[in-house]
Amino acid sequence: MRRGIRRWRPLLALALGWTVVVAACDDAGRPNVASAPAATSVSNRAGETTQTVHQRNGKIKIGFSMATLQEERWRKDRDMFRAAGEALGAEVIIMAANNDDANQISQVETMISQGVDILVVTPHNAEAAATIVKKAHSAGIKVLAYDRLIKNADIDLYVSFDNEKVGELQANAIKALVPRGKYVYIGGADTDNNAHLFKKGVFNVLQPYIDRGDITIVYDQWSKDWTPRSALSNMREALRANGNRIDALIAANDATAGGAIEALAEQGLAGRIPVAGQDAELAAIRRIAGGGQTMTVYKPIKLLADKAAELAVKLAMGETVETNRKLNNGKIEVPSVLLDPIAVDKTNIDDTVIADGFHSREDVYGNVKPK
Ligand code: BGC
Repeated sequence: MRRGIRRWRPLLALALGWTVVVAACDDAGRPNVASAPAATSVSNRAGETTQTVHQRNGKIKIGFSMATLQEERWRKDRDMFRAAGEALGAEVIIMAANNDDANQISQVETMISQGVDILVVTPHNAEAAATIVKKAHSAGIKVLAYDRLIKNADIDLYVSFDNEKVGELQANAIKALVPRGKYVYIGGADTDNNAHLFKKGVFNVLQPYIDRGDITIVYDQWSKDWTPRSALSNMREALRANGNRIDALIAANDATAGGAIEALAEQGLAGRIPVAGQDAELAAIRRIAGGGQTMTVYKPIKLLADKAAELAVKLAMGETVETNRKLNNGKIEVPSVLLDPIAVDKTNIDDTVIADGFHSREDVYGNVKPK
């Protein structure tokens, strides 16, 4: 019986903290590419070598299992990942699970039966997705976790942004404006490991101020499946419980910030207290330009999609992959590539999201050219 793919092993520490890791072989005979660097005969699916994959259809087949397309960013991820994979000569199959664990597992089963050579997965549920990894590995297919980590599973690689840093950027921006006062934290989905990392980052920054008594967290709640509706009702509750006396709001992403801002608006408080979000969604960037939101965190999705597609193809070919971090997922130290998030406020919209073409100037400002 085939065993799951063993852990990646760091070989060399390179300059800039990047580490070269290679695919370890399993007992069924997939070679360690350290001793077989040429990818042409590295086996990557049960009983099949890369050479035969090429003979089979001439292309590496990537399966990309997405949790959702709910937020604007995921539609960019989908399109950019497809473009990046295809530019590398791969065939890309993408399915989105509409925030449903059972659906995501059955979509992955479909992709496995369609003969994908590598699976890229953004899990809806960090824990439940361990099943996906087991299924893929027993079919001899490696798994790359995309943006969101899969917990308690032998995943082969994780490619994302530095998600703890996302929270730190949010908290630093808001703390500079409100060094003392009552804070509300509207979290993301409890089932998403990123939501925990974002929150950890926020509290890395705020905890000393909380300990000193300068900052009080008067409300702190997750938002089910990241929906603005859940954030709206949480924020209503936060305002009610505190008689509207709130000085700052940090929301785990722009969609939940949007829901929470609606609750502020109901009380005539929109634009009156600093608000942080994340994702640089168009609606949020427009709110920032107009004063309804203070900041967001921009994650250049193209860099993520390009890096993930490049490494997915390399993994499928059994080639060497460079990583820059290791993240513990409860089972293993996962070789990871983490990219840098960027804080965006009114002062740098033009130099970041507009300069990158993430949003057009017209979409952000309409026809009114800001001074
Ligand atoms: C992503 C965020 C996104 C959220 C909701 C998180 O895992 O990192 O960018 O807003 O999921 O989909």
